[in-house]
Amino acid sequence: MCGIVAYIGDKEAYPILIKGLKRLEYRGYDSSGVALINSGELNLYKKQGKVVELENFAEGKNITSNIGIGHTRWATHGPPNDINAHPHFSNSKNLAIIHNGIIENYASLKKELILRGHKFESDTDTEVLIHLIEDIQHVAKVNLVEAVRIALNEVIGAYAIVIISKENPDLMIAAKKSSPLVIGLGKTDEYFIASDATPIVEYTKNVIYLDDEQIAVISKGQELRLIDIKNQKVTPYIQELEVQLEAIEKGGYDHFMLKEIYEQPISIKNSMRGRIDANKGIVSLGGIRDYEQKIMNANRIIIVACGTSWHAGLVAEYLFEDFTRIPVEVEYASEFRYRNPIISENDVVIAISQSGETADTLAAIKLAKEKGATIIGICNVVGSTISRETHCGSYTHAGPEIGVASTKAFTGQVTVLSLMALSIAQKKGTITDSKFRQVLVELEDIPNKVERMLKSDKQVRYIAEIFKDATNFLYLGRGYNFPVALEGALKLKEISYIHAEGYPAAEMKHGPIALIDEEMPIVVIATKHGNYEKVVSNIEEVKARSGKIIAIVTEGDTEVKAIADYVIEIPATEDALSPLLTSIPLQLLSYHIAVMRGCNVDQPRNLAKSVTVE
Ligand code: G6P
Repeated sequence: MCGIVAYIGDKEAYPILIKGLKRLEYRGYDSSGVALINSGELNLYKKQGKVVELENFAEGKNITSNIGIGHTRWATHGPPNDINAHPHFSNSKNLAIIHNGIIENYASLKKELILRGHKFESDTDTEVLIHLIEDIQHVAKVNLVEAVRIALNEVIGAYAIVIISKENPDLMIAAKKSSPLVIGLGKTDEYFIASDATPIVEYTKNVIYLDDEQIAVISKGQELRLIDIKNQKVTPYIQELEVQLEAIEKGGYDHFMLKEIYEQPISIKNSMRGRIDANKGIVSLGGIRDYEQKIMNANRIIIVACGTSWHAGLVAEYLFEDFTRIPVEVEYASEFRYRNPIISENDVVIAISQSGETADTLAAIKLAKEKGATIIGICNVVGSTISRETHCGSYTHAGPEIGVASTKAFTGQVTVLSLMALSIAQKKGTITDSKFRQVLVELEDIPNKVERMLKSDKQVRYIAEIFKDATNFLYLGRGYNFPVALEGALKLKEISYIHAEGYPAAEMKHGPIALIDEEMPIVVIATKHGNYEKVVSNIEEVKARSGKIIAIVTEGDTEVKAIADYVIEIPATEDALSPLLTSIPLQLLSYHIAVMRGCNVDQPRNLAKSVTVE
């Protein structure tokens, strides 16, 4: 969480920083701030709230500068007020820092620094780091770069930082560990630094992704220098960015979330591109080819993920067990990493993450890797930390997802997991040829069906209007659509702040049924698949308690239509692929309800898109 951006060059820094912060706002929006050096002064402007508050605050102030740093915050240490907003000053106010991450041993460092006369203004761990750096500079009588290096050897935790100094107005120092940081190389002597490439892409495509414990020293008139915290020289590896500017703009939609929902026919196609040929009966995921034998012979597959990605993992549990007959466990990464799990060299761990930066998922991978398991990554962000930490993997290629509530990333993950399960099943011989081809043909046709599905938007909006003031929602599904019920409930909670629970339809009898009355909307996924008749019985049970049924049914259904209060139809498809269709009306339902309730759809309160703290 938290987004950082910095600029040094011959352009005006402030507009670049503000634009960059707006692009990074999805990472946190509790407060924002900038620090700029001009005419020998190090000026700091920061404000609680969104970047627009900062803009209003800074208007008319002295913001002319060619060097500056900016930060948008997701609060960890200390409430989201002006004082705790970044950047933070050192004791003398000669240095300023922006930081994404957590300095875990900040309390003991702070105690020591207070004894040495340091005065702190904020409650943040970040302020401690910049005081420490300055303290080392004076005590050890070393230059700023060396002080940063020594300090980073003393801190425990995660950081992506950029530091500027009033005394060295042409110098910028950046470093990272466990939090992402990318440096864009502009024209000669011009550098852009950010948490991800979105603030950089419109200026340059040439970037360097810093690795953990690396420090970049950028001085005007000199080549960028990379060292590690042990003071070893590192040769920079320059990569070319693939992301296009249009992909990170709203393109005429009111919100990123709506744009991303509507992009799904294309994003799902992109997840399959070059990997499937239904006519020839071919599925091939180049990224895992070298490890396929290992997966086929795995004792079990352990899936680790958080949030929506965990729901995609649950769908994959059904897919892999159904098709490949390999036992699957799906774990919350945050639980897995701390419960001393039993992992052997014959286990395969699949880590699913849109951002590729989620701290718990990353830690779960590291743990499983240490114990000898084979790690497969399914990430959306190309070059992300998780994609680099895994043995092999497949990108979802859904394109940048900016809305905090995940939509197209989820369907991209389910698509790639379907391809993976099919490919392994075919090689293992655990799926018949006719079934394999049947699912393949259906999968290739899913983007067209999603396109058709999106036409139900009007009906979904109508239903949203009726239930927008509800205080509770229940989502029910069975089999492949149980995880979709969880995902539907999560979407509604996240962006409309309505309490919602997802449940396996039959399990409803063991608790949630007590909540049902005539006020309670219940979304039931009742498509014509294996458990259809059972779901119909569950709907009857709800109706008997006067609950209001919103049913997702297969086109042409008559049975559920006769008993449900409202229905949304989806095109008929394979049971295993149905989550790719049933999830779409649930995304739209939460979207419309949130808009009708006046909620900030793309930046829901307290949430962040990239959760880089545990
Ligand atoms: C946050 C986001 C969710 C996301 C989850 C896991 O909670 O708001 O949308 O599903 O993190 O993130 P990841 O990037 O690992 O998929």
